[in-house]
Amino acid sequence: MKENIVILTGAGISAESGIKTFRDSNGLWENHAIEDVATPEGFARNPALVYRFYNARRAQLHEENVVPNLGHKSLAQLEQHDGFNVAIITQNVDNLHERAGSKKVLHMHGELLSALCRYSNQRTYYDADFDESTECSCCQRSGGLRPDIVWFGEIPMYMDEIQTLIEQANHFVAIGTSGQVYPAAGFVNFAKQLGITTTEINLEPSDNNYLFDHTYVGPASEAVPRFVSDLITNKNN
Ligand code: APR
Repeated sequence: MKENIVILTGAGISAESGIKTFRDSNGLWENHAIEDVATPEGFARNPALVYRFYNARRAQLHEENVVPNLGHKSLAQLEQHDGFNVAIITQNVDNLHERAGSKKVLHMHGELLSALCRYSNQRTYYDADFDESTECSCCQRSGGLRPDIVWFGEIPMYMDEIQTLIEQANHFVAIGTSGQVYPAAGFVNFAKQLGITTTEINLEPSDNNYLFDHTYVGPASEAVPRFVSDLITNKNN
């Protein structure tokens, strides 16, 4: 029988791919206060700064060193294995899981490569700079597009789908997340209540580590392939 594996990823899985984590940098995100660049209030106060900030984050995805690491790649390989149904729920707004080959990826905090039109609520794939002067393709008006990022105070995406995935899971895995931002931080509690096996993979055990049955400590590029290899070996035995 196939095992359903639900994997929550955070900034730690992309750290070795040249994308900085959040809480390892004194509460600053790429030298900006979170409340300036990751809240609706910050956007209302200084939209030009916020557009510039996300344009820079989007452009960073094209930098030579920003490529999927063995952590992303081994999850994509696991998805190819006949014995497992793999779903990735990511808090990351980068595209490294997709570039590694993962097909089932839910970006619960939004995506850099998407723009949200505030007039029509439509989302459009966007791999270029945009700002207040950019016309949206849906209503051909400027001023509507905003970064398709779930800011603090906004509701994360795919919550119903995520609940169903966890309810149907045999194994819940959290990789490279500090477990400080809800609702994602609470998924492990939900999994525990349902009696699902839980595994944490992190550079160091997180504050939530006591909620996990198994822990793999190490950088994602080493610890995730080790976990995937153990999972496949156990399946074969
Ligand atoms: N390998 C594995 N884990 C790592 C690595 C690595 N190379 N480097 C760092 N980590 C771990 C850290 O130990 C930490 O637990 O990754 C985690 C990063 O934590 P955060 O910076 O808090 O990132 P994350 O948990 O993804 O943040 C959640 O908060 O700011 C918001 O919306 C933003 O999605 C983000 C959310």
